[in-house]
Parts: sequence; C-alpha cells; structure tokens
Amino acid sequence: MPVERTLSIIKPDATRRNLTGRINAVFEAKGLRIIAQKRLQLSRAQAENFYAIHRERPFFNDLVAFMISGPVVVQVLEGENAVAHNRDIMGATDPKKAAPGTIRAEFAENIEANSVHGSDSAENAANEIAFFFAGIEITG
Ligand code: CMP
Repeated sequence: MPVERTLSIIKPDATRRNLTGRINAVFEAKGLRIIAQKRLQLSRAQAENFYAIHRERPFFNDLVAFMISGPVVVQVLEGENAVAHNRDIMGATDPKKAAPGTIRAEFAENIEANSVHGSDSAENAANEIAFFFAGIEITG
C-alpha cells in the first residue's frame, strides 16, 4: 500500500476536554505517524476558507462558529493508505453511527462537535496540508 499523508484536525470540543494526547495515542497505536503538528486559534475567515466546500450547507455558520470556539490542533499524519486509514480510525461523522473503538465513537459529543477532522481524498489532503503547513514544517 502507498505511504500517504493526510490532514487531521483535533477540534475545539476535544482540545477543551484535554484529549489531544489520548487522540494522538490512538493515531500512533494504529500505525499513523504525526509528522507535523501545531495548536492554533482559527480566525473566522480562516475557518470559512477551510470549509468553503460546505458554504451552501445549512450547518455552515454553526460549523464555523464551533471551529473558532477554541483552539484546534492541526497535524499531518503519515502512513500506509493514510487518507482512508485515518477515516476508518475516526469513524462516521455522526458519533451515533460511528463504529465502536473509533475516535468519534469514543470521544465525540455530537455530529458537529465530533472531535476530529480528516481529509476525505488524496487530492483534498494535499490542499488541506498546504492550507496549514509550509513544506519546511513537515519533517517526514
Ligand atoms: P468534518 O469532517 O470536519 O467536515 C464537515 C463538518 O461539518 C463535519 O466534520 C461536522 O463536524 C460538521 N457537521 C455539522 N453538521 C453536519 C451534518 N448535518 N452533516 C455533516 N457534517 C456536519
């Protein structure tokens, strides 16, 4: 399987509950390497840009408000099949539908405050990584 990189975000509901380490431990236990990571407070404009693909969705304004409600941890995860593998590790968007043992089943509060984001394709992963990280910040 190809070694890939994917963009992960630990969301404000998780940073608020001090879950960064526990979530990172899941990534590492399941074979993903955290090759870049930083904690930051998104501005409204940054959150709107990041989620621009969802601009027409009814939940867009709430989503942006939630994503700027506290700090996030943005990270690059690397591993075999990392994009799909991370989505398996995260579980379904709605924690009520997430498989047992997934991050969202274990930690998410609801469909919005769902603890983690992960890129949904290799193409989006490249764009999302470039949104948050300069090449010099990623060590491999
Ligand atoms: P994420 O993977 O970050 O991508 C879009 C986010 O919108 C999603 O996770 C959820 O946190 C949020 N969201 C809120 N409501 C919904 C909904 N009804 N359907 C899908 N995503 C939603």
